[in-house]
Amino acid sequence: MLDVKKIKKDFPIFANHENDKKPLVYLDNAATTFKPKAVIDACSRYYEMDGANAHRGDYDLAFNVDKEVENCRKHLANFLNALPREVVFTSGTSMSMNLVAYGYGIKFLTENDEILLTEAEHASNVLPWFKVAETTKAKIKYIPLDEDGRCTPENLRKVITKNTKVVSIAQVTNVLGFKIDIKEMAKIAHEYGAILVCDGAQSAPHMKIDVKDLDCDFFCLSAHKLLGPTGIGALYGKFELLEKMDPFMMGGGDNARFDMCGNVAYLKPPAKFEAGTINISSIYGFDAALTYLENIGLENIEKHEEELRKYAISKLKTLDNVIIYNEKADAGIITMNVKNVFPQDEVSFLNSKGICVRSGEHCAKLLKDRLKTVGTIRVSFYLYNDKDDVDALYDALKNGGDFLDAYFN
Ligand code: ALA
Repeated sequence: MLDVKKIKKDFPIFANHENDKKPLVYLDNAATTFKPKAVIDACSRYYEMDGANAHRGDYDLAFNVDKEVENCRKHLANFLNALPREVVFTSGTSMSMNLVAYGYGIKFLTENDEILLTEAEHASNVLPWFKVAETTKAKIKYIPLDEDGRCTPENLRKVITKNTKVVSIAQVTNVLGFKIDIKEMAKIAHEYGAILVCDGAQSAPHMKIDVKDLDCDFFCLSAHKLLGPTGIGALYGKFELLEKMDPFMMGGGDNARFDMCGNVAYLKPPAKFEAGTINISSIYGFDAALTYLENIGLENIEKHEEELRKYAISKLKTLDNVIIYNEKADAGIITMNVKNVFPQDEVSFLNSKGICVRSGEHCAKLLKDRLKTVGTIRVSFYLYNDKDDVDALYDALKNGGDFLDAYFN
């Protein structure tokens, strides 16, 4: 397992809460992650050292900014095994998904075309496609999940048709935590002439990504879920698709020229999609987050979370009051409930013990019929979690069955 004690020293938030009345047991990493000092310092470096706008200035400070922004793009391209020109900076996964939906979906889909999703998708991979369907009269269809809640290539084959134009799925689903075989899904989508859009928000932080090997057409991610700053993320797209797409946000920095008759010459991707002033300080931080993750090693992070998950499942299963909804999942996400306790109440109780976890529908609002519950408690791990965190959760849940007694003790 990773040396968590050493890793925690890199994250100022732990030391800053050391003297709090309760411990800080952070198990809500699928929502967002803490930032190492190297990331915080990199963001400050932009404000303290460089300060200029990007892609606009002809003086030293501006050149430094351009160099840093383009270095981060190259770094991210390398992280994903893409080319720099295939990496567009966005505000995060939601914006990346919307860019594909508006720029590709609305432009190329028509009546009777089909968009395939699953019930396990997060809102950012559902609502933009609803908008495409409403605008183009394309149809939304759902790939059935297997009995555990996993989306499989076999089930994709059951619903895909020659009318399918888009298959859009998460590589790791944010509630059930299954790792989906994107490579096989992309192969099937391509057999039918459809594109494969991959929501990588919950996968890119936790496992090695190779977009060329996956052969997905688009891949969306957020920096804040991989130790980076909020408000920055990226869209990877095959260059020939990015070239065909329209920008869905227009403004300064995305064009070569325009005239009074309304003619516009857009720049080539990725600049075409980066109108306005981009989130420069966060790009500095994003770069530092990638370096931090690479130094630890994505394979090591994946293994660490796997071990933690196994340990947590084996302990939680001994508690009669706990229902686990995704025992067979394979990412560091455990979704559960405490019998007869409303999830938000349980999470408030856990908070009283310093344990931070998320409750509710986790933005995956199509799942409730399948899970047959109003909401769940979600525990999600990252590289700075260890077995002590699992033990703290276990101890709290052990007493949390008789909820009111536990709360007032
Ligand atoms: N998508 C994030 C989550 O699952 C916000 O919590």
